[in-house]
Amino acid sequence: MSDVQTPLQATLKVAAMGDLHVREDNAESYRDLFGEISREADVLVLAGDLTDLGKPKEAELLAQDLKACSIPVVGVLGNHDYECGAQEEVSQILRDAGMKLLDGQSVEIDGVGFVGVKGFAGGFGRRMLGYFGEPAMKQFVNETMNETLRLENAMRQVRAKRSMVILHYAPVTDTIESEPLEIYPFLGSSRLAETIDRFKVNAIVHGHAHRGRFEGRTPGGQPVYNVAKHIEKPTGKPYAILEI
Ligand SMILES: [Fe+2]
Ligand SMILES: [Fe+2]
Repeated sequence: MSDVQTPLQATLKVAAMGDLHVREDNAESYRDLFGEISREADVLVLAGDLTDLGKPKEAELLAQDLKACSIPVVGVLGNHDYECGAQEEVSQILRDAGMKLLDGQSVEIDGVGFVGVKGFAGGFGRRMLGYFGEPAMKQFVNETMNETLRLENAMRQVRAKRSMVILHYAPVTDTIESEPLEIYPFLGSSRLAETIDRFKVNAIVHGHAHRGRFEGRTPGGQPVYNVAKHIEKPTGKPYAILEI
């Protein structure tokens, strides 16, 4: 019998934030915050709406600020990053800046599998939008279904024991509470949570709902965090720190 002990698995400190909405006028620089985060955490997760209007110029400003980040950066785009139809260019600028931008893929960093997809809207529970009626309605539901299938494929790729899912849209209503009820169907879809609950994950983060609650759970009991920068977090900062 060997007396060599297996070391306890160290946790990864993940800083997570969404909805940076970087604007062309560069009204808010993230340089100092990224520097601070690099001292506080091992990985930075960005949960979409990285730019305000999806302009390449906005992505370039964010890319400049990301130079202050000395830890790996992984994340997804949000709906705002699609606004100008320049999402490919925006993605390339961020990838060139070293960000691991996920769109239905996974990446492993220090023993943790990160899965990322933007997600889409469609509503929650029994009230979610069904595949019925006009072609435009069916197309809407198809978009949600496509995102959930891409999420599922990405989750199947994960080999690590610990994992984190990064979304832009919300998978549950817990974390969008205090947004107006009328817009819930546009804030996310529980089809995302149904897919995630077929797997075991350590945390799910999302943004998109600027008003809402930090912490919630999927129907299967897995922890969900709304990390939009506007949400009040235990850190008292615009970013959350999650130990994975
Ligand atoms: Fe946003
Ligand atoms: Fe958004």
